[in-house]
Amino acid sequence: MEEKKTIFSGIQPSGELTLGSYLGAIKNWVALADEYNCFYCMVDMHAITVRQTPAELRRRTLEQLAQYIASGLDPDKCTLFIQSHVPQHAELGWILDCYTMFGELSRMTQFKDKSAKNADNINAGLFTYPSLMAADILLYQTDLVPVGSDQKQHVELTRDIATRFNGIYGDVFTIPEPYIPKIGARIMSLTNPENKMSKSDKDNGGCIYIMQQPEEIMRCFKRAVTDSDTAVRYDAENKKGISNLMSIYSVATGRGFDEIEREFDGRGYGDFKAAVGEAVVELLRPIREEAERILKDKSYLEGVYKAGAEKAAAVACRTLRKVHKKIGFVPR
Ligand code: TYM
Repeated sequence: MEEKKTIFSGIQPSGELTLGSYLGAIKNWVALADEYNCFYCMVDMHAITVRQTPAELRRRTLEQLAQYIASGLDPDKCTLFIQSHVPQHAELGWILDCYTMFGELSRMTQFKDKSAKNADNINAGLFTYPSLMAADILLYQTDLVPVGSDQKQHVELTRDIATRFNGIYGDVFTIPEPYIPKIGARIMSLTNPENKMSKSDKDNGGCIYIMQQPEEIMRCFKRAVTDSDTAVRYDAENKKGISNLMSIYSVATGRGFDEIEREFDGRGYGDFKAAVGEAVVELLRPIREEAERILKDKSYLEGVYKAGAEKAAAVACRTLRKVHKKIGFVPR
C-alpha cells in the first residue's frame, strides 16, 4: 500500500476562531483528513509575537483544540497538538533563521501589516515568524499545507528555505505545496469588505466567531455592508460586500454563484442577507454545541494534546536529528 502523504497546518490562538479561518482552512483540514497523515497545531509560539494576556492565551488554546475536534477532526486519526509542547519547533526555527535572508523576511506582507498595527512592539519574533512557520511545516516532511490565501507568501518562503537547504546538504526536506480553496480563501469583514475578516480586528460586527450565538450572527449579517445596487450578482471588483456574502453562502451551502444569483433574482438584499446569516448559523451550530460539550471535559482535552505532542515529537525528532547531522552538530 502506498504511504499516505502528509499535511501540516496551524492557527494562532491569538483571538477567537473566526468564520474566515473555518472556511479558509479548517473546512479543508476536515475534508482532507481521511486521505492524508495530518498534523494540526495550535501555534501558541507564533501567537506571542503580539502581546497576549496569559490567561486568555491558555483559554483560547484549549478552546481551539475543542473547536478542531468539534469541526470533525478525529484525534485518533489526526495528530492534534500545541506547538510549544514540541520543542523541536523552536530548535529547527533557530536553525532555519540562519538560512533565511533579512531581505526575504522584510518583504513579508504579514510582517508589514502587523508592524503597522503594533508599532510599539515590533519585536524580533514578529520579524522571524516565517522561519518558525517553515520549521513547523518542514519538521513533518509535509507535502500539503491547507491555508487561506493570506498565508500563501509564507508557504512560498518555506519552499525557498527548504530548497536552499536541500541545495547545500542534499534531500533533507520535502518541498511543501500550499492548498488554497477556490472559494473562501479570503473572507472579508462584513462591515468593511475591503479588509480581511480577522480575529485581531476590533471592528464590531465585521467578524463572525465560531462560538457566537445565533442571534448575534444574524444581527451581524443583517447589518453587513452591501452597495447601492439591488442585484445579488458576483462582481469581486465593484460589488465587494455582496461578492463576499455570496462566497460565504456558496461555501456554507455548496451552491454555485449562478445558482445563488437565480435563487435571489428579483429579491432584495434584506432577504439575501438573512439567508446567508441562517446558513452560517446552521453551519456553525453543531460545531459550537459540540465544542461547548468537549470543553467541559478538561481531562479528555489534556489526554488529546499530550498524546498529540508525543506523536508529533517522534516525527519531529527524526527530522531534527537528520538536520543536526547534516549541518555538523555533534550527536547528543
Ligand atoms: P492565522 O492564525 O492568521 O489563520 C489561520 C488560518 O485561517 C486562514 N484565515 C482565513 N482564510 C480565509 N479568510 C479569512 N478571512 C481568513 N483569516 C484567516 C489563514 O490563512 C490560516 O490558514 N501563520 C499562520 C499560522 C501558522 C501556520 C503554520 C499555518 C503558523 N505555522 C504552519 C500553516 C502552516 C497564521 O497566522 O494563521
